[in-house]
Amino acid sequence: MAAGNGPDARYEFRAAAEWAEFGAVIDLAYGGHPHSPAHSAVVGALFEPKRSLVACYGGRPCATFAGYALEMTLPGGPVPVAGIGYVAVAPPHRRRGLMRELLRRALTALHEERGEPVAVLHSTEPGIYGRFGFGLASQAVELSVPPEARAFTHEPDGDGLTPEVLSPEDASAAVAAVYDACLPERPGMLRRDAAWQRRAVEDEPASRHGAGRLLCLVASGPDGEPRGYALYRMRPAWQRSRPRYELTVRELFARDAAAYAFVWRALLDTDLTGTVRAQTRPVDDPLLALLDDPRSAAPTLRDQLYARAVDLDRALTARTYSAPVDVVLEVSDAMCPWNAGRWQLTADADGFAECTRTGAAADLALTAREVGAVLLGGGSLVQLAQAGRVAELRPGALRAASAAFRHDPAPFCPMAF
Ligand SMILES: CC(C)(COP(=O)(O)OP(=O)(O)OC[C@H]1O[C@@H](n2cnc3c(N)ncnc32)[C@H](O)[C@@H]1OP(=O)(O)O)[C@@H](O)C(=O)NCCC(=O)NCCS
Repeated sequence: MAAGNGPDARYEFRAAAEWAEFGAVIDLAYGGHPHSPAHSAVVGALFEPKRSLVACYGGRPCATFAGYALEMTLPGGPVPVAGIGYVAVAPPHRRRGLMRELLRRALTALHEERGEPVAVLHSTEPGIYGRFGFGLASQAVELSVPPEARAFTHEPDGDGLTPEVLSPEDASAAVAAVYDACLPERPGMLRRDAAWQRRAVEDEPASRHGAGRLLCLVASGPDGEPRGYALYRMRPAWQRSRPRYELTVRELFARDAAAYAFVWRALLDTDLTGTVRAQTRPVDDPLLALLDDPRSAAPTLRDQLYARAVDLDRALTARTYSAPVDVVLEVSDAMCPWNAGRWQLTADADGFAECTRTGAAADLALTAREVGAVLLGGGSLVQLAQAGRVAELRPGALRAASAAFRHDPAPFCPMAF
């Protein structure tokens, strides 16, 4: 049966029973790489069977969908969001509409039960979820600082900070304290309980690819209070008998500018090190303003988090706005038809908004995908209009709405789920 008409009646859908029934499907879907028992224990501890779905064929699971109750920072602060992960269909069952049906069921349930107003996911491929109304809500850059480009615009004076290199287990309280302090500042940040923190510092030998174990550099103030940290690894490499280890940063947060510069300086000056890489950093990472030669860091842009309004009015009022705005949006939404139609969005000078159905003439026309792209304050309505994805129906409405939706700092999600 063609995708889009719905899977045929031989497929049954039900809530998941336990993490173990996902294993065989995920193993096949990703090309025969079964999870190790240690990794299964980490991801299994996060599993929420009641929010997760399987499709079965002949009584056996052939497609999976994991749902998570998360809390994520939106412009204005942390709010509950529905996380989606492990959307996987075993190869013989693909292109029969199973993914579409799993998503349709999950989004419909969130709408009917008045669950979280926003759904978020990371995608293995960027071309999959736009058709379901998920927009590119955050982007990330990969940075790579060669030894000759380590100079800063101004060198940190240390501010009384002391570095220490610990195992992630020993650093866990410091990591949690600094991360939690940074959480409300940047949209896209995910609140982490103990199970999510274990996932953040997971150190599977299979994913080291020749590098050493995960290390944690913690910078603490004179009072012993942790102010910054970096999770990183070092991969041995030699050039003409000289050490040129590659240091790869997994995660780095700091409570203030002095600690931020201090942690980067300590990483860049690590003995034996050649290039320092960070695969996933915010697009407005302060390091790009701190390096005297940001060109050498060769930032490479990539897509990151995808977001979707489950219920348009609840999603648009779950966040605050950067400027007052009064705009009528004409939204089309094939996946969640309850969102289709005209909505009046009004935000006051404090950024708080109301969103109601209206019969008034539309100012902007767009699809759910474009709404998703601007939900976290990352995407630009002006840019989307220039790409022909948003239509301005009242002159002036586009710039005003674009400025209201944008957020500084840019959204960034440091965790895959
Ligand atoms: C991606 C995957 C889940 C798709 O499942 P599926 O059941 O075959 O998808 P559906 O039949 O419901 O397809 C729905 C639509 O998505 C499209 N689509 C499916 N997979 C796609 C992909 N990888 N890239 C682009 N489009 C894709 C289909 O062509 C169809 O398009 P239409 O809207 O024009 O009809 C499945 O191929 C899979 O398990 N892949 C490996 C794991 C993976 O990448 N999962 C995604 C995790 S984020």
